[in-house]
Amino acid sequence: MTVVALDKFLSDLDQLTATAVSAFQAASAADVLEAARVEFLGAKNGRLKKSQKGLSHVDKADKPVAGKRFNQAKQDIEAAYETAKEKLAGGGTEQAAAFDPTEPGRRRRLGHGHPVSQTIEELTDIFARLGFNVAEGPEIEDEWHNFEALNIPPSHPARDPLDNFYLSTAGGGAADRQLLLRSQTSTVQIRVMEKATPPVRIVSLGRVYRPDTADATHYPMFHQIEGLMIDRKVTMADLKSVLRMFCSSYLGEEVHVRFRPSFFPFTEPSVEVDMSWHGGWIEMGGAGMVDPNVLQAVGYDPEEVIGFAFGLGVERLCARRHGIQDIREFFKNDVRFLEQF
Ligand code: PHE
Repeated sequence: MTVVALDKFLSDLDQLTATAVSAFQAASAADVLEAARVEFLGAKNGRLKKSQKGLSHVDKADKPVAGKRFNQAKQDIEAAYETAKEKLAGGGTEQAAAFDPTEPGRRRRLGHGHPVSQTIEELTDIFARLGFNVAEGPEIEDEWHNFEALNIPPSHPARDPLDNFYLSTAGGGAADRQLLLRSQTSTVQIRVMEKATPPVRIVSLGRVYRPDTADATHYPMFHQIEGLMIDRKVTMADLKSVLRMFCSSYLGEEVHVRFRPSFFPFTEPSVEVDMSWHGGWIEMGGAGMVDPNVLQAVGYDPEEVIGFAFGLGVERLCARRHGIQDIREFFKNDVRFLEQF
């Protein structure tokens, strides 16, 4: 067995102690400290362990001295480790070290508006640029605003209970207090005209309700955009121009608008509005010149003022622009569908 000189053993030990202590002192993060602990104090291959093995090679006579110095060195090194550990655990040093400003941040998943809400915002913007203010009306309506003032008499088939969501009127029972979920946003025409004096230029966007069976093109609740313009001189040509400018703005290309004769109780004449789209025509909604009976119902003089009104389907516009085939998709609330818009 090779004998190790005491001097050599002791100087190696001193050097090991100095290296270990300064390594522990320099450790600025938990993982660095741990690596140093394994290197110097590791139970199997630690450098202190190796030094301890070296102890057995020291001459027997020198062993008491060597052993004593070894124990001292071990204590010093362990103390340096404990001090470093406390320093990291206690102070802000660890947190400062754990926060690495060069690491990529954790991105927050941001949601966005529902495609129908986005469409409503966009349509509102376009009509605002054309000088139309936004008006709102209630979704629970009375028969005056949903029917009567719109020239829809009690006998009219549009008032059929099977075609409307009537609400049972609690307690009262008076026929004129009958309430229903509005079946069209034309109700807002009446509410606006009842309060405002002409000229009037508004759009109203919101939900309407009809007891339709849901399929690719129907849903018991959907959204309409209603437009109304009342002034001294307003013509069908103005109506067509406004609708064409609107459609071109929304679809971002030159769009043509076509009127087909139709009937609505509250407009005369009445038209169905089609617009050209990729070589074909698609139906967007109804329009016409406000019926004199309607103007009278809100206290306007049909000899003095005249105007147009239109009502378009919001889902239909949105679906057309994005190529959505089935309007039920809008209301399933499947995020995989919604996040595409
Ligand atoms: N309110 C009609 C509908 O829901 C649309 C319309 C609005 C027609 C305004 C003419 C004027 O079908």
